[in-house]
Amino acid sequence: MSNIRSYEERLKGFDWSVSREVLGWTEGELLNIGHMCSDRICANGGADRTALIWEGFGGKKQTYTFDDLRVHSNAFAKLLQDQGLEPGDRICIFMDKIPSLYFSFLGILKMGGIAQPLFSAFGDESLEVRLDSAGTRAILTTQKHVKKVRKILDRLPELKHIIVVEGNEAKLKDGEVFFDVEAAPRVEEFDSFRAEPESPSVLHYTSGTTGQPKGAMHVHSSVWGQVLTASWVLDLRPDDIYWCTADPGWVTGTSYGIIGPWALGITQCVLDSGFTSKRWYEFIQDNRVTVWYSAPTAIRSLMRDGEDLVRAHDLSTLRHLASVGEPLNAEAVIWSEKAYGLPFHDTFWQTETGAMMIVNYPGMPIKPGSMGKPFPGIGAGLLDLETQEPVDEPGKVGLIAFRPGWPSMFRRYWKKPDIYRSKFAGAADDAMPDELRTDESLWYVSGDRASVDKDGYWWFVGRDDDVINTGGHLVGPFEIESALVEHEAIAEAAAIGKPDDVNMEVVKAVVTLNPGFEPSGDLELSIMNFIRKRLSPLAMPQEIEYVEKLPKTRSGKILRRYLRALEWGEEVGDLSTLEDD
Ligand code: WT7
Repeated sequence: MSNIRSYEERLKGFDWSVSREVLGWTEGELLNIGHMCSDRICANGGADRTALIWEGFGGKKQTYTFDDLRVHSNAFAKLLQDQGLEPGDRICIFMDKIPSLYFSFLGILKMGGIAQPLFSAFGDESLEVRLDSAGTRAILTTQKHVKKVRKILDRLPELKHIIVVEGNEAKLKDGEVFFDVEAAPRVEEFDSFRAEPESPSVLHYTSGTTGQPKGAMHVHSSVWGQVLTASWVLDLRPDDIYWCTADPGWVTGTSYGIIGPWALGITQCVLDSGFTSKRWYEFIQDNRVTVWYSAPTAIRSLMRDGEDLVRAHDLSTLRHLASVGEPLNAEAVIWSEKAYGLPFHDTFWQTETGAMMIVNYPGMPIKPGSMGKPFPGIGAGLLDLETQEPVDEPGKVGLIAFRPGWPSMFRRYWKKPDIYRSKFAGAADDAMPDELRTDESLWYVSGDRASVDKDGYWWFVGRDDDVINTGGHLVGPFEIESALVEHEAIAEAAAIGKPDDVNMEVVKAVVTLNPGFEPSGDLELSIMNFIRKRLSPLAMPQEIEYVEKLPKTRSGKILRRYLRALEWGEEVGDLSTLEDD
């Protein structure tokens, strides 16, 4: 049966408790995301339903039922408990999108741990910064990636457990634990941690303009937001075969690649293999995918490969398409309607919001290029760029802001209460995180700019800071700059976004060199590789510009804004704050 009621109908008398109705949830049931995504589905008659259809590199395929999900996540929960790990401990998952990633994520939640998923392509420096910040106690990884952990272990006194879940046991070092869940005995029973609504669940690191990445902490009751949006916006129904293309190292891959859909008992597909348009179409065709949640960069790549390739595959099972992560241009929506007979529905949200906020609700007419309208229950507002007062003039650009209190909202930046507070307009200087997240007189300010038209549709304008969005992934300029100046040739560095047809933005570095170094092809390669290995392929500059001197403010801060404006051919603005000499 369809979940679609008109948007207007949904808005009337909306209350988040409908999310409980959607799940058939009764008071007194265990609120633990790990349990809700596996045991609860089995207990309600779904044990034999397919939970996961997984395909790896080279075409290896595995299928798991909800009972498999239950038993394998039990095994991880028990293992972690046996290792002495406790509720509240940060436990990192650092692996490719292999089945154990999904089992261990639920297992961590079952034993009360805080799951800290990190993108497996992160280099040792990106990894170290995030493990150090979180005071991570254990890391689950694979033989392929464990080397990066070994390299930084000495500097992480709180990291006590390294668990390798795939590879060759004989190649492990002393103190590392090997655990192959599919070879291990079945764990039929596990008494899941009695989470409170406010018990921490997931810690996702996200980049800002200044400083190192921050850990956005989520809680078990986020599930209400994820379930309802997965049901109403992704329109997931019991017989769907759903494919979320995101990696759980990013929030889309957990909120909508694990939690929302599995709490609803939906069959999900995972493709752990590099992107080609042909591979993706085959995957949809072979697995009879019905609902597909992806990102603009992928959609633009598919567009570039043309309609003939679409026609060469049977994609007739597709029923609903949605997108997130970057602006979805109008052409991509129009093209998808032509090529697949279905438009992509843009959705806007952030790591911090935990779930969709502004959406193209199914059934609501799409204005191509618009993000749609706020999800029911979301108090969205546009604030003046200077005064942060609400703007209600159609077409005027302002800051996207939300009234605190939606279920999946982040509850903290891990150990950074001041930065958390700085995200709320109107907050008192001494307000604590728990006051901020419930105070509906405040605004959580997203850091993005938009306008709203006379029909109430929201249009994305751009970010209000210097964070670079490359292919839907945020990378922080500060993190890149800090790594750049560790290269022996570089004296000072600025990292900015430069326009790119497919990825929207890619990283560009503007650098000054130390005495004795000259620009050359070799130096460029050496710098690129240095960043790729230490941080990640996403953070690697695609272009390096050498300058004699970087533009700075009087106080010595590098003027990224100015460099970015030059790069994008935009108004440079007021230069009076530049150094005079
Ligand atoms: C930032 C959040 C939420 C999942 C993935 C990203 C940009 C996100 C859209 C959209 C234009 C978008 C914003 C936002 N963004 N969705 N539909 N249109 N921009 O999570 O890594 O926290 O990034 O991505 O700039 O603030 P994230």
